[in-house]
Amino acid sequence: MSKVSLAEGINWVGVVDWTLRDFHGYITRRGATYNAYLISDEKTALVDTVKHTFSSELLRNICEIVDPEKIDYIIVNHVEMDHSSSLPVIAKHAKNATIIASQRGKDAIIEHYGADFKIQTVKTGDELKLGKRTLRFVEAPMLHWPDSMFTYVVEDKILMPNDAFGEHLASSQRFDDEVDGHVLMEEAAIYYSNILMPLGPLITRKIQEVVQLGIAPAVIAPSHGIIWRSNPSKIIQAYLEWSAGAAKKKVVIVYDTMWGSTDKMARAIAEGAISEGIEVKFLKLRASELSEVVTEILDAKAVVVGSPTLNNQMFPTLSSFLTYATGLKPKGKLWSFFGSYGWGGGAVRSMVETARKAGFDVLEPGIEIKYVPDQEDLKKCFEFGKQIAAKIKV
Ligand code: FEO
Repeated sequence: MSKVSLAEGINWVGVVDWTLRDFHGYITRRGATYNAYLISDEKTALVDTVKHTFSSELLRNICEIVDPEKIDYIIVNHVEMDHSSSLPVIAKHAKNATIIASQRGKDAIIEHYGADFKIQTVKTGDELKLGKRTLRFVEAPMLHWPDSMFTYVVEDKILMPNDAFGEHLASSQRFDDEVDGHVLMEEAAIYYSNILMPLGPLITRKIQEVVQLGIAPAVIAPSHGIIWRSNPSKIIQAYLEWSAGAAKKKVVIVYDTMWGSTDKMARAIAEGAISEGIEVKFLKLRASELSEVVTEILDAKAVVVGSPTLNNQMFPTLSSFLTYATGLKPKGKLWSFFGSYGWGGGAVRSMVETARKAGFDVLEPGIEIKYVPDQEDLKKCFEFGKQIAAKIKV
């Protein structure tokens, strides 16, 4: 591995997972990285490890810089296994190292890997002197797990916030000024939508807390993807907007269809919204990934969801979508529902109930059509699209 330096004595020693296409259900079309950082001073600290399948690669990267026996500290910012599952292997080689983690991190390490580790717990504001350098810790519960924390290298102004500000993007480049900026922000939005969206209010508060603690990072080095060194404020600003629920005049139409009736309705609704000058994204579920759908929802003001009725209920792909979407708790969207049925109906009713239970703002009534929509029905759908557009135009 050629050395990747963030500052003198601070190196990336992570790995690139080029072929990963599924991160616990989130489709990672561009692969992933698990970033780990080695800080060499009078004391040596390793910040995070990597997924266990890459333990030997991490070890090799470390060995190119230092004998692992010389590692004094292993900082475990987060115990989810994409970052910690190499810990047992690395700790065996770094036999003199003390593990540094939050209290809940310590508990989680023991619950995952047993109690055979020397662990020192830290809390917000605690510092660890490495020599010329100081590590300062900030607990960040639920970003992404209860155990999560950030590590800040005070003198170099490098923030290592683990999952926050990252994205799944396998790349031979490591820094934001070396990659396509559009791809980078697209992947950052996909990551935020699929991993962090339900935690929006916590993110806003955590960013405010970090500022109040006097942390003004010149570099943000997350545990996934690209290191922000040329413009870290870009990703902070994006997080502030996403976590505040900032949205534009955009409608996402997401639906499925059995014999084409719900598809015809969806197209007419889209035409109605477009006729009002509103941006529309049109996503048929069996032709789209859920990761893509929720990313489109991130900056949309309205979501229009359509399903045919199957056995008096919504179509199964819609159940899957609504389970995923309600769990992610997108903020401040107007939701509405439509669908077709043959005799008893039920899809629209069950979707509305699901959305209401999730606390979503639902525009009622939805629109339901029996069997195949005729011209009059399609005109109603067109008007439905216009009505939704009018609601989000203000
Ligand atoms: Fe990248 Fe929450 O793990």
